[in-house]
Amino acid sequence: MSAKPLPALRLDRLLSNMGYGSRREVQGLIDAELVSLDGTVITRAEAKISISADLSERMRVRGAKLDPPPGFIVLLHKPLGVTCSHKDAGPLVYSLFPPRWGRREPPLSTVGRLDKDTSGLLLLTDDGDLLHRIISPRKKVTKRYRAGLARPLTGEEAAIFASGALLLEGDDKPVSPALLEPLGPREAWLTVTEGRYHLVRRMFAAVGNHVESLHRDRIGGLELPHDLAAGQYRRLSPAEIACIFEAEASPG
Ligand code: URA
Repeated sequence: MSAKPLPALRLDRLLSNMGYGSRREVQGLIDAELVSLDGTVITRAEAKISISADLSERMRVRGAKLDPPPGFIVLLHKPLGVTCSHKDAGPLVYSLFPPRWGRREPPLSTVGRLDKDTSGLLLLTDDGDLLHRIISPRKKVTKRYRAGLARPLTGEEAAIFASGALLLEGDDKPVSPALLEPLGPREAWLTVTEGRYHLVRRMFAAVGNHVESLHRDRIGGLELPHDLAAGQYRRLSPAEIACIFEAEASPG
């Protein structure tokens, strides 16, 4: 999953980096024989642990499966009303995960952002290389949004969005070609390849409309699973990660 193979880590460092406590607290867990690998209690804090995707299945801490080991990515069905930030005042997306995940090093970060008032597919990872590959403008990973609009579509929006010439207020570069697919008079899919601040809302504002509801259902070839309710999340498999980068028809 990760671009670079992860090194083996000392057990106390691994657990401490994963938020299980300070090195001293982790030592306490080890001394109390509360950490095991493949059914055998580990007694040495300095034991080297190879990081692998199946480590959660193989290691137990206080009798529970280990959290996802470093180099993981989760798909969250982001509900409305939570913010993609580590420090805003309101409820944060991070509050949807176990508190221990908030103490991880490297930290879990959102892959790009969704506004507080946008729901749908949000990825989070502690793998900086993977994060950058997904958001890199060169990769042109598509993002599809379902937008509910205040006013009916005029029929001119698709050509304007596909032109690659739409300049948004305050920006010095036009928006890359985007694909508009009407779903009804005041509803449409919009597929974009960029991650600019409030991009979809600003694109519709530029053509005299106003976005009333916004939901993202797809990143590259990865879709928000229908059985994942708002607020729920799950880890992605390597095959699903590959889907993100699946070549697709260009939106423009
Ligand atoms: N564009 C927006 O305007 N908001 C989002 O949350 C995502 C894309």
